[in-house]
Amino acid sequence: MIRIQGVSTIQGKITNLSIQSDEETIIDGAGLTIMPAVIDPHVHFRTPGMEYKEDWRTGAKAAIRGGCTTVFDMPNTKPPTITANLLHEKKAIIDRQLNEAAIPLRYQLFFGADKHHLAEIAKTKTAAIGIKVFMGCSTGNLVIDDDESLHAVFSIAAKENMIVAVHAEDEHLIRERKATYSGENSYAAHSHLRNVEVATRAVEKAIGLARQYGTRLYILHVSSAEEIALIKAAKQEKLPVFAETTPHHLFFDTSAYGRLAGKAVVNPPLRDEKHREALFTAIHEKVIDTIGSDHAPHTLEEKAQPYGECPSGMPGIEFMLPLLLNAYHAGLITLPEVVSLTSQRAREIFAITNENDWVIVDLNKKAKVSSTQSKCGWTPYQDLMLQGWPVYTVLKNTCYKLFV
Ligand code: DOR
Ligand code: ZN
Repeated sequence: MIRIQGVSTIQGKITNLSIQSDEETIIDGAGLTIMPAVIDPHVHFRTPGMEYKEDWRTGAKAAIRGGCTTVFDMPNTKPPTITANLLHEKKAIIDRQLNEAAIPLRYQLFFGADKHHLAEIAKTKTAAIGIKVFMGCSTGNLVIDDDESLHAVFSIAAKENMIVAVHAEDEHLIRERKATYSGENSYAAHSHLRNVEVATRAVEKAIGLARQYGTRLYILHVSSAEEIALIKAAKQEKLPVFAETTPHHLFFDTSAYGRLAGKAVVNPPLRDEKHREALFTAIHEKVIDTIGSDHAPHTLEEKAQPYGECPSGMPGIEFMLPLLLNAYHAGLITLPEVVSLTSQRAREIFAITNENDWVIVDLNKKAKVSSTQSKCGWTPYQDLMLQGWPVYTVLKNTCYKLFV
């Protein structure tokens, strides 16, 4: 038995945690705080086909270091996860990689909606956590850009009681705006090309479809005040609409291009500062339900390419919780809100049964972000001084001691 003694709950109650184990260890938990382990509902661990950017051996280590024991992985792999067979094959590869890493990370997979494989959706009803719809192109070429297929996906999902997770950026508007921005070589142009209207147009359409078919809708990486207004209205209407934001949209804005250059390029893009405030307000008002890291690693060489060739996305799973704990110290968010965002709401929305996994954090620990477990080898949060770090992650009765 591993006993962590005298640890505090977020309400300040002192408690002990006993973990089934062959070893007999007593850990002094004085000054430490216990929270449910993080569920990250949005990662791209790049398997199969892009394992040079990340795989489940490195991804699992990064997750554990971030206090995370459950991830939901996205289907824009090579090949994309667009048939039931591909979904099962992907699971087998992941299980092998996790076995090699000796980390039994919990995971779920999103199934990728594709207009030529709509009949596959129902076959994945129990095997997938939900259906991912790219309403606009991002990394890879998964996209649903015609209304007929979009209606079909929402209708099938409602019938099968599957949740639809949308990357809400309007492909037609992106294409139109690409013409205006062609030849643009500053990374910051990305935020103008994929402007707020690109996102709101898609969010509006997705909410309309959720209303029409009664589909449960999960809106990924909400980044702007305007999307929040639409989601707030949908919730007031009692539609089954849920919203996620990301650490990079909470903690970065367009001023980051100066420092991070191509590393700051992400879809949806970073927004002007005022949107960050709107995101925090939306968390307080429970319009935003969850935070997903949208962990999307690319190599440094790829991210150093000029605008237009530089792929979108940045890693994030490892530092999402420390960033939130640091924001707690800055008075931006409460600890119950952190728990709600990082595990409680995901558990409710996706019907995840109680897992008995924990993260034990040292709220007082101050350290700079200095290294990463991600295979891509970089983090946009490099050298940031943060207060509040996970020190133990407990997954299926294994207690991982973490070093910052
Ligand atoms: O920036 C992004 N990167 N947005 C996405 O939607 C996909 C992701 C990736 O897979 O690289
Ligand atoms: Zn993503």
